[in-house]
Amino acid sequence: MPTKFNNHSKAKSLNIFGDAEKASVHTAKLIAELILEQQKKGKPSVLGLATGNTPKMVYQELIRLHQNESLSFHNVISFNLDEYYPIGPEHIRSYTYFMREYLFKHIDIKPENIYIPHAVCSPDRIEDYCRDYEDRITNFGGLDLQLLGIGRNGHIGFNEPGSSFDSTTRLINLHSLTRKDAQADFGTIDNVPRQAISIGIHTITQAKKILLLALGEKKSEIISKALKGEISTDVPASILQKIPQVEYILDRDAAALIQD
Ligand code: GLP
Repeated sequence: MPTKFNNHSKAKSLNIFGDAEKASVHTAKLIAELILEQQKKGKPSVLGLATGNTPKMVYQELIRLHQNESLSFHNVISFNLDEYYPIGPEHIRSYTYFMREYLFKHIDIKPENIYIPHAVCSPDRIEDYCRDYEDRITNFGGLDLQLLGIGRNGHIGFNEPGSSFDSTTRLINLHSLTRKDAQADFGTIDNVPRQAISIGIHTITQAKKILLLALGEKKSEIISKALKGEISTDVPASILQKIPQVEYILDRDAAALIQD
């Protein structure tokens, strides 16, 4: 059983698990429950999905539930948080490629229900493109659930420090720490894109349920700042302290600095 604190350290709901696998399985279970609930009502589920190392085991568990426990994604609509700019969908480091490899090709989601910011559109069309992405989310009635990881500088999606809490989908400049953390994936720092398209902080906080998953000791410092520190645009994830529908899901290592 996880350690459960409600209204602890300003967090609305904080679940700390013994290891990354247990935290990931719990996260996948919440997503599956939402999908099943919506299916019972004959309604689609609108999911906001994330990339990075953190959600990989969640996706693995969702695939297992699909293959072994007949969880269907036929009425799931998915919107990804972000994408590097510019980068083509076939690029091995694109989030389009990531989502296909780690989740979509293993489940029965309909290709027409998958939305990922398209980072090949020309600079003069970006603003319209971002507005359109935002409108699509709104037209589906908003996100039922947003899955989030967290960057070591507190970013959510690619909403870097300094991002306005009112921000919506837009082109952003990547922070140096974010690019440094991506260097291993891209080989050299020069290969790491300097920009990305990301849904905004406002868009994220409008989701009906938000799951922030953080795993590993590397995240312990930023988790402490995001959950216990001042609410400030310097730490974009800190805004979640004000959002009642947030559940923080941590493994013991990520929670190391917030446990008494
Ligand atoms: C990436 C993504 C974020 C992700 C974060 C953490 O840059 N844009 O959505 O949450 O960084 O990544 P990881 O899970 O690999 O630590």
